[in-house]
Amino acid sequence: MMRFIFIAILCLSLELLQHRTNAHDDAYCLLRGEPVPKREDYTYFPGVGGYKLNRVKKTWFDARVACEEDGGHLAVINSPDEAHSIVVLFKQAEEIHGFLDVAFCGFHDLFREGEFLTIHGQSLERAGFDIWHESQPNDIDNSQNCGGVHYGGTFNDLRCDDLYEFICELPDVDENDAFNLRSSKWKITAFITATKTIMARFIFIASLCLSLELLQHRTNAHDDAPCLLRGEPVTERDDYTYFSGVGGYKFHHVNKTWFDARLVCEEEGGHLVIVNSADEAQAIISVFKRAKKIHGFRDVAFCGFHDLFREGEYLTIHRQSLEQAGYAIWNKREPNNFDNDQNCGGIHFRGTLHDLKCHSPLEFVCELPDAADYSL
Ligand SMILES: *[C@@H]1O[C@H](CO)[C@@H](O)[C@H](O)[C@H]1NC(C)=O
Repeated sequence: MMRFIFIAILCLSLELLQHRTNAHDDAYCLLRGEPVPKREDYTYFPGVGGYKLNRVKKTWFDARVACEEDGGHLAVINSPDEAHSIVVLFKQAEEIHGFLDVAFCGFHDLFREGEFLTIHGQSLERAGFDIWHESQPNDIDNSQNCGGVHYGGTFNDLRCDDLYEFICELPDVDENDAFNLRSSKWKITAFITATKTIMARFIFIASLCLSLELLQHRTNAHDDAPCLLRGEPVTERDDYTYFSGVGGYKFHHVNKTWFDARLVCEEEGGHLVIVNSADEAQAIISVFKRAKKIHGFRDVAFCGFHDLFREGEYLTIHRQSLEQAGYAIWNKREPNNFDNDQNCGGIHFRGTLHDLKCHSPLEFVCELPDAADYSL
């Protein structure tokens, strides 16, 4: 009986540890700053998140950066509950600073007119809330491409370059416990050491917990999917070439704008290729070689990064900087923003990066997760 309880506790601890690590991994969407446990200047709504209505006006682009510097992001509304929290936030701010009608939040249609995406790349429907203010979005003057939220919790489209107050979001405090991981690293090291000793004595426990962790890992691989807009992640596709431990790739022999290419990849359950390592660049080189055999020499193809948010600030479609993504090797004399009009990412047959015109149709490479991640 004691042994059973011990196993249960050990496995639970491992799962909790796993959970913490993953919460930390979720932070990959953030660009700047370290995620913080709790900030005094944020108002927390249990089970929802922490919010700050910044009463200093900024462009949407600068607001985005300011929130990231706090360790968070422009507020993304994922549920009616969260919209209600925003309403409360506006009311609280009104008591202190006076009435405010609308503030920037974390969505835009900068990629394609009328296709509103959160800054994490989800459609508003997928994000969980898409209730617009009366007669919105109206894209006044064809120039409203950034997201706003009204004091009543409904959405509006606003001009990105106009100055507005803005709402930043930090994860709920409970989740934030995960971010204390760093400071309590010694505890975990001690824990792991103890675990190792115990595992040597009870091999069967190790196997049991390993299975649990693998199961957990499998679930998490699927959890990564929220960054995708369309299609379900698929186990394995015959039309993709898989590189073990790296991913599956498909060279699309059809010319599309970067925006359309992005959607085609998502419809296949994946995304425009993002190079995360030198190994992955090698895989892309092989993909090009294969394409050459079938279609003739190909010089360059679209891949999954852009600087549409801010000139010269290259981000993957999952919002990481290239450095954070793990690969930032440019081709010679690139990026050059040729004609002041190259804001979309390309990859050269040699595995180096390019900036390209988003609207000039080009072939492209899509990526699916490594099949092994899904084959459990
Ligand atoms: C796509 O455009 C490039 C450059 O204009 C061209 O070389 C290539 O043959 C085109 N590919 C297809 C599939 O039409």
